Amino acid sequence: MIEIVEPEIMRDKSIMEKKSGKRVGVVPTMGYLHEGHGALLHEARKENDIVILTIFVNPAQFGPDEDFQRYPRDMERDRKIAAGERVDYIFYPSVDTMYPENFSTYVSVENMTDLLEGEYRPGHFRGVTTVVMKLFQITQPDNAYFGQKDAQQLMVITKMVRDLCIPVTIRRVETVREHDGLAMSSRNVYLSPKERKDAAVLFKSLQTGKDLVQDGETSTEIIIRRIIDIITAIDTIRIDYVEIVDLHTFKKVNRLESGREYCIALAARVGKTRLIDNVFVSS
Ligand code: PAF
Repeated sequence: MIEIVEPEIMRDKSIMEKKSGKRVGVVPTMGYLHEGHGALLHEARKENDIVILTIFVNPAQFGPDEDFQRYPRDMERDRKIAAGERVDYIFYPSVDTMYPENFSTYVSVENMTDLLEGEYRPGHFRGVTTVVMKLFQITQPDNAYFGQKDAQQLMVITKMVRDLCIPVTIRRVETVREHDGLAMSSRNVYLSPKERKDAAVLFKSLQTGKDLVQDGETSTEIIIRRIIDIITAIDTIRIDYVEIVDLHTFKKVNRLESGREYCIALAARVGKTRLIDNVFVSS
């Protein structure tokens, strides 16, 4: 496993690998790896000759009052997990390398970034798409792996790739969950034992939403109301949003139409920790 911090060196290595006929897969992360990242790496390992893991806590996607400074970091542990997943390269740049003085070029996907996470975290997706575009330029992948847990991010990146004709295939990997259904997240480490227990209600409420759809409910208002009622029964949790959007456009819908795919997405604060989760449903 080779560790690289310089973008030019990383790009040269990837170009060299591709010239010798190798298929390159990248797994972009902010580190503090968990089993969710493990699943991304596992898929990348299956489908590519070379796997690049990028680790970069990207300041551009955090708002001023968010957790950039205290975001969990543990490079030693990440190295061990990466080695276990047979990663070939870790690209681990510094903030100054990625955003040198006078950096002034950003990538923005419009419309689908205005709601849900985009509404609650202004500027977040501009930071994500900018860094992901840069990471694609640096790592030159054939395939890139993103988790379903960040469904809006996944769809925004897919849109960027399509709109800007970027020669990368975006691969979706299903959310990995704890035994009680809580979606794996680096931020789960912030939860107190009680909050950790309470947080399981998020997935339970989404499952209830999914069951309602499967039983034929088409009113998003009714489904959302039911989910909100389940979550608000837990006093440590405050909801930011519960929404149902068309999976491909990420536009809100009032009524589910048969044969279409939707995402039931939510964000909530469990104590001081903000968590997101979602399920995909088809009517
Ligand atoms: O999902 C993440 O960890 C980040 O948003 C990503 C895609 C690595 C960009 O910083």
